[in-house]
Amino acid sequence: MDQTAATIEEIYTAENPSSLEQFDRDRKSMPGGAKGAYFYAPYPLTMQRGEGCYLYDIDERRRVDFANHHTGQILGHNNPAVNAALQAQLSRGIALGAPTGNEAALAEEMCDRVASVERIRFCNSGTEATLHAIRLARGFSGRPKIAKFEGGYHGSHDVVEVSVAPPVDEAGPADAPYAAPTAGGISPHATAEVIVLPYNNEDALEQLVRRHRDELACVILDPKTGILPLRKEFAQAVRRVTAENDVLFILDEVVGFRLARGGVQEYYGISPDLTAFGKLIGGGLPVGAFGGRADIMDLFDGSGEPTGFFQSGTFSAHAMVMAAGLATLQQLTPAAFRRLNRLGERLRAGFNDLRARIDIPVQAVVLGSLFSIYFTDEPLIDYRSLASNDSEMAQRVFLSLLNQGYFLSQGLTMNALSLPMEDEHIDGLLLAFEKALEQARP
Ligand SMILES: Cc1ncc(COP(=O)(O)O)c(C=O)c1O
Repeated sequence: MDQTAATIEEIYTAENPSSLEQFDRDRKSMPGGAKGAYFYAPYPLTMQRGEGCYLYDIDERRRVDFANHHTGQILGHNNPAVNAALQAQLSRGIALGAPTGNEAALAEEMCDRVASVERIRFCNSGTEATLHAIRLARGFSGRPKIAKFEGGYHGSHDVVEVSVAPPVDEAGPADAPYAAPTAGGISPHATAEVIVLPYNNEDALEQLVRRHRDELACVILDPKTGILPLRKEFAQAVRRVTAENDVLFILDEVVGFRLARGGVQEYYGISPDLTAFGKLIGGGLPVGAFGGRADIMDLFDGSGEPTGFFQSGTFSAHAMVMAAGLATLQQLTPAAFRRLNRLGERLRAGFNDLRARIDIPVQAVVLGSLFSIYFTDEPLIDYRSLASNDSEMAQRVFLSLLNQGYFLSQGLTMNALSLPMEDEHIDGLLLAFEKALEQARP
């Protein structure tokens, strides 16, 4: 480690002693600490509270939150209307083991916002949402395989944990990637059930979907909103090619739903057969949902003749979650999206200006209120170009930003703005980022 990088880490360790103590305690009972996504070297900050766009750690340091709980906290923290909705449900009972009306209110709101969603079902996570959407696609089509994009993430069930982050030199041809398991313990059958597609490559998309059409239940697309620039024409090609080959199209809006009132699909002008949701629609509580065409979704209507399809879950459509989700969506008006996206534009302009002034290979992807930062000169078109990112540089910049009072996602690749932010928070981040680049440069 060079001098500057050592200094960044020394400052971090010196200023965050209570988080180190907490981490040492955490890992005694939980392997590696609380959960995979919370860990970053040398140890993660433990947070005490959040207020608006700020987080306060247990050493009482304040940071502007540009991670927003894996992008979900679009309203920031401690939102009064969300809290009031939770209090109101709390006083009626937390879990009543029956419909409460809350789920219908959120379902109606979602169907109203997203044109392709005629019916919707709730579950507990984005993982469950993609699992159920894929299972439904298999059942509806009677075909066994799925196609997903190399680098696309859809949660942690087996078939979608294929080719999420494969080593590029072992991943096969760029226009026909191999299917590779992402984590230990994944069923050996999973890779055999997945066709892997490259992003932003219409020819490969057409060829692979046509070749496998008789065994493909669906193509599932993670549009990697604010992570990879997905061309509009390409998103539209996914819709066209799936329709031409009679293969269902599942769009994963777990992250991207924060782009517009009608989600990523409104932005791209596409109408998927099924859509998976999560994150913000639960107002900060655990949630997932999947919905789409009535003729497919109605296979879950067990009120008449048995259909052979079933989806449930002890905590699915939980009254507290539904209440928080509705209170969140009610604040996400067209004006709120305009405000968020305008802040995103300010950030993009600032990054572009910075990039023109400095001699470090850095690129920012900004879409709506989502953004990522990469240290590479390669044009960002697919998973493999994203993988050229200098992750050690990213780690140094990330720690330097923490030292300067800015909390971004580890790796800097999934950051989000929140509604309480003002121009000054964007400008402050840009200044801190420039300083971080100077400190972290190799
Ligand atoms: C695009 C996408 N789909 C699905 C998921 C899985 O959601 P969850 O973590 O709620 O299971 C994620 C999680 O980050 C995601 O980014």
